Amino acid sequence: MPDDQWADVGSVEDLKRRFLQEISIGKTRVALTYQDGEFSAISGVCNHVGGPLGQGTLDGDYVVCPWHYWKFHHRTGQGESGYEQDQVPAYSTKVENGRVYVDLSSATKRRKQAHKPHPLARPVVRQAGPIRVVGISTTAMTLDHPRFSGSDALLEAALEHAKSTLQLETQCIKLRELNFRSCEGYYSKSAKACTWPCSITQMDPTDQLDRVYEALVHWADVILISTPIRWGNASSLYYKMVERMNCIQNQETIANRHLLKNKVAAFIIMGGQDNVQGVAGQLMTFFAEVGCQFPQFPFIAHSRGWSAEDMERNVIEVQNSRELREGAQELVARAADMAKLMLCGQLPEHPLARGGRKAHQLDSEPTG
Ligand code: FES
Repeated sequence: MPDDQWADVGSVEDLKRRFLQEISIGKTRVALTYQDGEFSAISGVCNHVGGPLGQGTLDGDYVVCPWHYWKFHHRTGQGESGYEQDQVPAYSTKVENGRVYVDLSSATKRRKQAHKPHPLARPVVRQAGPIRVVGISTTAMTLDHPRFSGSDALLEAALEHAKSTLQLETQCIKLRELNFRSCEGYYSKSAKACTWPCSITQMDPTDQLDRVYEALVHWADVILISTPIRWGNASSLYYKMVERMNCIQNQETIANRHLLKNKVAAFIIMGGQDNVQGVAGQLMTFFAEVGCQFPQFPFIAHSRGWSAEDMERNVIEVQNSRELREGAQELVARAADMAKLMLCGQLPEHPLARGGRKAHQLDSEPTG
């Protein structure tokens, strides 16, 4: 191999200070390692969704991708045990006169081993059948010691009406019954590190938010969210869920893919104290950004105001209010009607103009 194919990537003294680092040779990103007195080089681009291997960590002989922790041998580029058919290119290296050289022309082939896709990754196809309503309770409480919850009670009233009177399919998910992790900010590493299905869901089979994703993306036509008001905001469980829904919104950005198509969202907001408008604004903004539609009057709400501290009275008011129950029933009926319109009305497909929406295209694409 002629010498002029070797790229000088720096001095030994400088490069041996770090066991793993990312270097660029032209447009090619390389993960350079220094171990046992030797330099090795493999591609800096992960086989999964392109994570920067050179910015990862070393685990024994393996470079660990910083995005979702796939591992590749620092010398051969081969995947870890069980994934030997996964391989990123490896390059020859040499040291001469205190300089480190990498030969890009020596690259071995990149090979990708098929990883079994997560069930949520299947195409989104609405199955035939009546309108389907998923109710999601975001109220927190100890399962062993349940208490009366106004938002839960009205969600149940809406779902019962949908099932018994409107003859719709329903399911109720109570977030407090699920064991799921907080969003860990894969998006903060890179938009492309935030994957669909959610990175946590793909890596952690014990995480139960897959049930919510399954219902929202693959099953429901109507998404009915109930929340109490907590210090002027929706419940902490609501935010824990929607942070994990970044992977749904992010598909708009990185893949032009609209996972919540023809879905209608509506809300039940209950609080002893105030800020219904603020909470409704939060809920509607998020669900608008993931592409949901809203019925006319998309939420019902109740609160007694800032200075009402006599919470027992608030509970009694909700329990005895026929108006609120009827309001919940009418809300789900409006949402179901809107869903029918969406599904049967054959709304023409419009290319989505990105301007003004959050899902702007990425400004730059990584190279290498
Ligand atoms: S593990 Fe490398 S990009 Fe996902």
